[in-house]
Amino acid sequence: MIRFARLASTTLLFVVAVAIAGAGLARDRKSPAQKSDIAQVETARGKFVRIEPVVAHRGMVVTQERQASLIGADILARGGNAVDAAVAVGFALAVTLPKAGNLGGGGFMLVHLAKSHENVAIDYRETAPAAATADMFLDAGGNADPNKSRYSGLAVGVPGTVAGLTLALEKFGSGRFTLAELIAPAVKLAREGIPVEGDLLDSLLLAAPRLQRWPSTAAIFAKADGTPWEEGDRLLQPQLADTLETIGREGPRAFYHGPIADKIVSAVRAADGRMTRIDLESYWAAIREPVRGTYRGYDIVSMSPPSSGGIHLIEMLNILEGFPLKSLGAGKPEALHLMIEAMKLAYADRAEYMGDRDRVEVPVERLISKAYAAELRAGINPDRARPVESIRPDSSALGGGGNTTHFSIIDEFGNAVANTTSLNFSYGVGLVAGDTGILLNNTLDDFAAKPGAPNAFGLIGGSANAPAPGKRPLSSMTPTIVLKDGAPVLITGAPGGSRIITTVLQVIVNSIDFDRPVAQAVAAPRVHHQWRPDAVLVEPGVPAATRRALEKLGHKVEAGPLFGAANSIAVTPEGFVGAADSRAAGALAAGL
Ligand code: DON
Repeated sequence: MIRFARLASTTLLFVVAVAIAGAGLARDRKSPAQKSDIAQVETARGKFVRIEPVVAHRGMVVTQERQASLIGADILARGGNAVDAAVAVGFALAVTLPKAGNLGGGGFMLVHLAKSHENVAIDYRETAPAAATADMFLDAGGNADPNKSRYSGLAVGVPGTVAGLTLALEKFGSGRFTLAELIAPAVKLAREGIPVEGDLLDSLLLAAPRLQRWPSTAAIFAKADGTPWEEGDRLLQPQLADTLETIGREGPRAFYHGPIADKIVSAVRAADGRMTRIDLESYWAAIREPVRGTYRGYDIVSMSPPSSGGIHLIEMLNILEGFPLKSLGAGKPEALHLMIEAMKLAYADRAEYMGDRDRVEVPVERLISKAYAAELRAGINPDRARPVESIRPDSSALGGGGNTTHFSIIDEFGNAVANTTSLNFSYGVGLVAGDTGILLNNTLDDFAAKPGAPNAFGLIGGSANAPAPGKRPLSSMTPTIVLKDGAPVLITGAPGGSRIITTVLQVIVNSIDFDRPVAQAVAAPRVHHQWRPDAVLVEPGVPAATRRALEKLGHKVEAGPLFGAANSIAVTPEGFVGAADSRAAGALAAGL
């Protein structure tokens, strides 16, 4: 089924393909604009699923939620650039994908500017309040206490999203749209409501116990009797609409200095947090140099600290560059083995070295150098899994889910945006701040509560990532742009906690080494190893024979869940190819 969605505000037709998780994905694509990589391939959802990219020439927006993609495409159709569209999408997702899109969280945006050939990173990660202390997440016995770091006001970082999106607009927007104009579609959806169905329905049910703890949250995300919304209900968010409208009218000051700030502070403190008005007033989003690497003739531009994503992505690519992956074959155990060994080495470094570079020394240059990769590569045995104890001494356990969301955008001028944003868990800590409609994050769990104590994603760290006043917790978010001769050829990124970096790695290796068209590169089943615990997680869709072959090489293989939705765009001679990842129900590529 191809959809031509005509939006009221434009006469342009959007070429739209909806990737519906689990629906078999057989969709017709008859647009003359479309060609290329439709295929029957093995995917994480099982063998021989038909996958469907969208090809277009004037722009492409790929997000995890249908309405948000259409809003972004509409901004492009009205002459906006990729950053204008990203800002509109960012605010829209706060309404339409409340589990991960947000005003009360943070994230990272990577921007490629076609005219100046510049690549810039915007860090709008949450910060710890000034009253943060190294022991803030410990119980009386000195042990890491997840109740504090994940489920209380202590978990809430000072939100960065409003500062980040408005900074992006101010610095890199086209100037054709005011903030209010870009926020308007989000306001409308919040006020008029969105249908409760699909992923919204499922995620609300799953998160219900956490959401119902707070009356301000239950008032929005549950029915009057406290039971979750059902299919066919409409989720109305009038308070969020008012908040969005105020931000549109008054700018980010309204969020960080006005009554909205007071309400965030009151809510966090009532939930045992330590945030103050001064913490909000002193929040800043940073423009940072992205990290850069090269891989087989391509330039890799990715997120710098306080995310670990870019550094470890480049570290793993550097290691793998010395192996003939292509001749080993896509999905073959010998190739997967080398990738898994590279993952183990990179994640061991993550636990040791990584933290907020504004606060601690991070040996970035060494970690992303070809020389260091050569040293690490020399320790990889192509025939045998290396015992993790021989990499570094430590231990942890693998934690569970949560949610984040990634979108990719390109405009007709060649400007590109890769943006990953999060509340950490699905719906964050679950607390709505007073009557603002703003769901707050629990991102401070990404700090190492104690050296060696795993966070919710099983990641461990040490003093480099200990909580401290104003510090940004280490992230794995990896918005990435791959360039050839200075122009973007792949825009990608993903949710998935610790699995984000390995997901982005595999999308890139599938594209570059295995010549997979982008939709196949995204759909192919993935593997993940994070050094600790010593287990290779394999997605559904990895054949049993491959799992057995990995076990023979000495790996402990565990069946994993579906990893995160890597909504990506490739720039090809045929046009912009949008690949909405079918792992996320409702993901949509909208091209024009
Ligand atoms: O910044 C990070 O690495 C985590 N807070 C991301 C959480 C996440 O991806 C959850 N999603 N599935």
